Amino acid sequence: MTVKIKKCGREDLQKLQEISIETFNDTFKDQNSPENMKAYLERAFNSKQLEKELSNISSEFFFIYFNEELSGYLKVNFNDSLSKKMGDEPLEIERIYIRYKFQRKGLGKYLLNKAMEVAIRQNKKIIWLGVWEKNEKAIDFYKKKGFVQTGAHSFYMGDEEQIDFIMTKTLIY
Ligand SMILES: CC(C)(COP(=O)(O)OP(=O)(O)OC[C@H]1O[C@@H](n2cnc3c(N)ncnc32)[C@H](O)[C@@H]1OP(=O)(O)O)[C@@H](O)C(=O)NCCC(=O)NCCS
Repeated sequence: MTVKIKKCGREDLQKLQEISIETFNDTFKDQNSPENMKAYLERAFNSKQLEKELSNISSEFFFIYFNEELSGYLKVNFNDSLSKKMGDEPLEIERIYIRYKFQRKGLGKYLLNKAMEVAIRQNKKIIWLGVWEKNEKAIDFYKKKGFVQTGAHSFYMGDEEQIDFIMTKTLIY
């Protein structure tokens, strides 16, 4: 088995769009209305929006390959791109998604390690992320990897107000 991680560039736009839509849909479609899903997918993952995010110097995207097959991706934010001001110069994991058939093979762990590598490279002491309170699988994964809940905030999924838990990990190095 081989695992490779590659930093994305603007040339990866189409693949990024495909995997973003597929993984978001697989993760959330059973617990959200088709209308809210459609609105979110169109707004978050349209070509213009993703192109803007790919060329933002305060974000980085990575693809992960399992035996040469694209199996997931990571998006991290820092500095001006943070979704929420959190003090003390943190790194945010905005998206971490492994395609369904590749889950539970250790790939999420590889992507978390990549996020930590970026954080350390930038001398960040804290990593934080927001995770939907109903996404129990992801919450268990983050807890297992040393994240603790440090807050919560609400956001709108279409017309539905939902709660995200804020989870944080302090890096010691
Ligand atoms: C959450 C996610 C990224 C985890 O990635 P993964 O590749 O399946 O997880 P890994 O195989 O790397 O597991 C890493 C560790 O977490 C644990 N873990 C993973 N999923 C778990 C689950 N559902 N319940 C309990 N523990 C879990 C594993 O046992 C493993 O433990 P170990 O370090 O002791 O071996 C992946 O399941 C995913 O993409 N889910 C859908 C998208 C999503 O919800 N993303 C997060 C949005 S906030």
